[in-house]
Amino acid sequence: MTVSTTVTVRVPAKVNLQLAVGPRREDGFHALVNVFHAVSLFDEVTVKEAPPRQEPGFVTLSASGGTRVDLDGVPLDATNLAARAAVLLAEETGKGSPVEIHLDKRIPVAGGMAGGSADAAATLVACDRLWGCGLPETDLADLAARLGSDVPFPLLGRTAVGTGRGEILEPLAAPGRYRWVFALSSRGLSTARVFAEYDRLRPDAPAPLPSPAMREALAAGGAAALGAVLTNDLERAALSLRPDVAGVLAAGREAGAIGALVSGSGPTCAFLVGDEDDAATPGVEAAVVRAVEAAGVDSCVSAGSGDVPGATVV
Ligand code: C5P
Repeated sequence: MTVSTTVTVRVPAKVNLQLAVGPRREDGFHALVNVFHAVSLFDEVTVKEAPPRQEPGFVTLSASGGTRVDLDGVPLDATNLAARAAVLLAEETGKGSPVEIHLDKRIPVAGGMAGGSADAAATLVACDRLWGCGLPETDLADLAARLGSDVPFPLLGRTAVGTGRGEILEPLAAPGRYRWVFALSSRGLSTARVFAEYDRLRPDAPAPLPSPAMREALAAGGAAALGAVLTNDLERAALSLRPDVAGVLAAGREAGAIGALVSGSGPTCAFLVGDEDDAATPGVEAAVVRAVEAAGVDSCVSAGSGDVPGATVV
């Protein structure tokens, strides 16, 4: 058997179709009902055995990125979630050896699309392969959950509902194929800060509930039905910290978006522009891009969704 010394894993971004947020728990996290949906915007994570003479730390990190990705926001030290993923897998399996991790980023940084979590999930899959650990998917998911609430989903991809603090996943049937426009901001928002603002605005938040209407809309497929049930409880908190984002949402809606919401903890805005196979969708997509760019966003990126797999070795 050939042992590979380099493994590359492709991993998708996500948008939250429903993000229901309850009160802060005793451990500091919030109870969530979080419908994750993978979109065709990918990071590629490459792990490589570190050359023997180089004597690096256990992990060395480098990053490159698309023109719209702000690499200044990506820490290249042991605090990066991808580095922590490699260290955790090595500790748990006793099989690790020093690696170089390269992050080739297309997912916006600190944009509410779980790019850092996606990179950590991809690193788990890549190191598991490189080191020949062969962990079952459930063990990888457990390690992912220890790294962060959003890390298990990019292992699965497609569509899933997360409960607990978002890490307990159940795949959802979702046969629709959609198109999205994402409006990016050059300044990110800290997830922890947005949750703290949520607590300030909603000190009496009720327990989060799953939405039967969301489940039905996803099962039926069709952008019109889905657009009507998109919700994000963190949106008010994100807009309170970044009031400029409200104008972006309004511009996209006026230009014909079927649904518009802040993605996760923001500040990225997600616009559902139609069904992939609808002849009208490209026109709506172009109009939404024009309108949000005129509203002052730094850049836009379009993506498809509906059948986007999770972290995959390429
Ligand atoms: O789990 P993760 O490390 O991604 O969370 C980042 C921050 O977001 C946490 O430190 C916490 O402030 C907040 N958070 C939360 N409730 C969740 C998930 C995240 O309060 N369910």
